[in-house]
This record gives sequence, C-alpha cells and structure tokens, in this order.
Amino acid sequence: MATVTIPQLNRMKSEGHKIVVMTAYDFEMARIVDRAGVEMILVGDSGGRYALGYESFNPVTLDEMILLTRSVSRGAKNAMVVGDLPFMSYQVSVEDALRSAGRMMKEANADAVKLEGGEDFAPAVRALVKAGIPVMAHMGITPMMAIGSGGYLNQDVKPIEDQIRRDALALQDAGAFSVVFTRVPPPLATALTKELRIPTLAGGGAGDDCDGQVCVMHGVFGLTVDELETPKAIYGPLVKPILETAEAFVADVRAGRPVRSRRDNA
Ligand code: KIV
Repeated sequence: MATVTIPQLNRMKSEGHKIVVMTAYDFEMARIVDRAGVEMILVGDSGGRYALGYESFNPVTLDEMILLTRSVSRGAKNAMVVGDLPFMSYQVSVEDALRSAGRMMKEANADAVKLEGGEDFAPAVRALVKAGIPVMAHMGITPMMAIGSGGYLNQDVKPIEDQIRRDALALQDAGAFSVVFTRVPPPLATALTKELRIPTLAGGGAGDDCDGQVCVMHGVFGLTVDELETPKAIYGPLVKPILETAEAFVADVRAGRPVRSRRDNA
C-alpha cells in the first residue's frame, strides 16, 4: 500500500518540490525504483512496447495491463502505483471507463488510474472520481491521440494551444488529481503549471518547469538493444553491462567454468 498520498503531492506542488514518476512493468523493477524514492510508479501502456514487444503502445489489452500492474503493486512499498487504461478500454462509454478502472483497482491493486484524453473525457474522469478512483489525466499530443497521423512526435501543436488549455482546466474541474503533459509546448506547460491547482507532470516535450517529470524507465536507463547502436539515454546505457554480463555467462558455461551463485556453492 502506498505511503505517498494525494495531499502530499499537492503539498509538494505548493512548496516547489519536484514530483518524480517513473514507469515500471514488473515486480523487481518496481522494488528498485520504489527504493530510489519516486513518488509514483506508472505502469504505462508503454509496457505494451517495452515489456511485451508490441510495435506501439496501443495493442496492449486491459488484461495484460492488469497483469503488469499487479506485479508492480506487489513490488512498490511507498510509491503510488498508477495503472494506465489502454486504448479502447474506456473510450466507448463512461460505463466502460468505470468497469476498466474498477478492474485496475480491484484486480491489480493500483492506487490510481491514468487515461489519455482532453475535455471530451472529463465526464469519464468525473464518474471515476465519484466512484472513489483517483485519476491521473494525460493530455497534449499523446500516442493514442496521434493514431493515424504519423506519430505523436511529429505533430504541430501550435494550432491546438487553446484546446490544450481548455482540456487542462476541464480535467482539473472533473477531479483529476494530476495531469501529464505530452508534447505541450514548454511555455504553455509552464503557464498551465502556475494556473492549475493540481500537479502537472512533464511526460515528454513539455520542458522542465512542470511540477514533476514522468519518464519511461527504459528511456532513462538506456535499457533497449537499440541503445547499443544509437545511445540516447542520459543515464546508462544499462543495456551495456547487462549484455556484457550475459556474454560473460555464455562464455563461462561454454568453457566449463563454475557459474553457480556464491550461496549455492556454500
Ligand atoms: O505509457 C506511458 O509510459 C506514458 C508516459 C509516456 C507518460 O503514458
């Protein structure tokens, strides 16, 4: 059960302490980032890509997200665990949103859910909050909203800046306890951070002046095979020592050298 609370996150905003959110998709990784002191662990639909190997974030199912989130919930001692509602698990109706979020809370033991969308999804957010389910909103140009338009990284945000402001205010009014900005231009993200009562979290392309940051673990750690060819991560790349360790193990087994753990040999 999380020791971090929503009032604590609000206090952090008002006192100017940055909120840290990182994704994780399994038990041990959750234990590690929890121990590192993050306030929230997001089991993002990015897990569809990084844990399950889908080509994008969208194919992951609610059942799969529940499985990943349940494992993270077991590992997190202090951090709030936020389970992402995947594509088409809440878009058809408010009833769907309630059912899907309810499963995420009951079956995966999440502390909150996240959903992508702007003011059109305010009724769903309101219904979830009324049912006692804390909601992290996620808006801007998100992966789900950019389906069919060549990817969310290439969109022109300028024409929708007024809409972004309306979305943020509507989601706050509906009762979201925090909001993730993806591809919200940094000056607008900074202005909205001052304007909104709830904590804002920069989720990529929203600058450094939100109340906190949410980052995909594999990106932070450099934990993809692609990092070996094209290093981009600021930290790591962790893939390198892991690969080297795997190669050392392969070489030792092939050479007939002992590979048992110290405890096994004791
Ligand atoms: O799924 C995810 O990891 C996310 C973050 C990029 C905010 O939604």
